[in-house]
Amino acid sequence: MKTFNIAALAGDGIGPEVMREAIKVLRATEKKFGFKLEMTEAPVGWAGIDAAGKALPDATLALCKKSDSILFGSVGLPDRDPTIPREERPERAALLRIRKEFGLFANLRPVKLPKALAHACPLAKERQGDGIDILVVRELTGGMYFGQPKKTEDIGGRNFRAIDTMVYTTPEIERIAHVAFKAAQLRRKKLTSIDKANVLENGILWRETVTRVGKNYPDVTLDHMFVDNGAMQLMLKPTQFDVMLCENMFGDILSDEAAALGGSLGMLPSASLGATTGGSTFGFYEPAGGTAPDIAGKNLANPIAQILSAALMLRHSFGLNDAAAAIEKAVAKAIEAGNRTGDIFNPNEANARRIGTREMGDAIAAAI
Ligand code: IPM
Ligand code: MG
Repeated sequence: MKTFNIAALAGDGIGPEVMREAIKVLRATEKKFGFKLEMTEAPVGWAGIDAAGKALPDATLALCKKSDSILFGSVGLPDRDPTIPREERPERAALLRIRKEFGLFANLRPVKLPKALAHACPLAKERQGDGIDILVVRELTGGMYFGQPKKTEDIGGRNFRAIDTMVYTTPEIERIAHVAFKAAQLRRKKLTSIDKANVLENGILWRETVTRVGKNYPDVTLDHMFVDNGAMQLMLKPTQFDVMLCENMFGDILSDEAAALGGSLGMLPSASLGATTGGSTFGFYEPAGGTAPDIAGKNLANPIAQILSAALMLRHSFGLNDAAAAIEKAVAKAIEAGNRTGDIFNPNEANARRIGTREMGDAIAAAI
């Protein structure tokens, strides 16, 4: 039987409770489709700091290195211990470190508004057209997040100067562009590349490079949009988008905006992929939302983003396309049947039932 090794890092806040539901659903799939998942749990984030003094404990990193993929919850609790230096806090020391360490340059965030959740979308029904279905492809290891210099200088008189550097090279843009064009080929064959070529050097190089890469994909229609207009177009006419290609920072912002169109940030999964070597792709799979400390531990969180992230893992890292599709179908079925966590619940909806994290996981596992 095919066996895959997974590092399951639940992290902080709602991480552990949504991870539990994703594992439940994966176990149901395992039984049905006949493969074996070796899942090993390890602490990360504040949980890592509590357990081993580091947001990414050495043992956790070692586990990730010998695994086939990482299934991740979420990390970061804004109110915990502000005395810990920024470089050691979970966001940088765990999340950004893992992205860089494993070369996870391609971040895929698929947003899809299920018909039954039209009410959870902030846009009026007319603007939803036949449905919103957008894949945000975000470059994840370049741009302002990692560019050097990155520092805050004391310039005297109690003033400071903060510097972040936006930097991209041609090969970095090329490889993410290829990912986006290939993804578009499997969808509606339309790619919108986002940049700020009217102001930024980075934007000019981005646009030129994406245009050149596009020559290899004559079946995909490419257009370009400035990021400010892109943000506006998402609100005005989201149905015009198929694949949106963004650099790191723009993708961070637009993927949250797009997520809201999908009904809830609690339903947005994400795959972060490195280069494919020897036919296999190491990946990091996480919900795009955060730790939601206000609702943590109360059985209120929506586990769907975590469960859909697990489906992306089966597809992109293990090639288990049928099992991945079965999870996505089971999620759709659970929603159609009226199961709603608080974030997607509307009291005016007939046949809708407000349920908790655990019950949503149960409903989806049962639908497998
Ligand atoms: C995301 C998050 C992270 C990011 C934070 C937590 C560092 O917002 O994955 O979108 O900015 O990339
Ligand atoms: Mg973000």
